[in-house]
Amino acid sequence: MIKERIIRYQGKKITVLFSVDRCTHYAACLEGAPEVFDSSQRPWVMPDAASPDKVAEVIITCPTGALHFERKDGGAQEPVPAENTLIVETHGPVYFLGDLEVRDQYEKLLLKDTRIAFCRCGMSKVKPFCDNTHARVGFEDAKEIAPDHPSVPSKEIPKGKVTAVLMKDGPIKLTGPVTIKNGQKDIIFQGTKALLCRCGASKHMPFCDGSHRKSDFESELGCVKII
Ligand code: FES
Repeated sequence: MIKERIIRYQGKKITVLFSVDRCTHYAACLEGAPEVFDSSQRPWVMPDAASPDKVAEVIITCPTGALHFERKDGGAQEPVPAENTLIVETHGPVYFLGDLEVRDQYEKLLLKDTRIAFCRCGMSKVKPFCDNTHARVGFEDAKEIAPDHPSVPSKEIPKGKVTAVLMKDGPIKLTGPVTIKNGQKDIIFQGTKALLCRCGASKHMPFCDGSHRKSDFESELGCVKII
């Protein structure tokens, strides 16, 4: 499994779980519930400052999965979205929303989640997650990410989970129903198999074009702890 550094903020009716490794300061929480999430204070999370429903509602807008919750009051736990969607941020990470399993190339289960931001620049210090290094190093996609990749109509796509296999020193191999959108929310791919670049060198982003073989990409350099 991926060993994340998790801090638990206990409230009376809900516990907020914060993954230090996965926060990219997207700030959906700060904007959604400033009475609960306030980075100028310590502790910066106050789970009892709003209703558990409100806290949960805001947490599921965190696109990186840095925030999760556990209800103690019998309220609904986080729903699993019916469809799997990846949004490729221009010059940034790829955000996953859906029913996802992450596995290593030997199929060992590393993580199950509904929200993850995957690094695309290859430079993150917490691979496979994004840590905003792309902004610091000036990562840029080689060309505009446009809907020019072969895909199948959505009606032919079955329902179910998608598996992301982290290929050593190579791409993320997706297997399962998935829709991929660019930063403008145009659909660029629908299907059940795709290889996503994570070395930063592909000329056909977000897909792998084999450039990792020439780019000295080392997927285990600057990687979260795996146990
Ligand atoms: S992982 Fe980047 S080109 Fe293959």
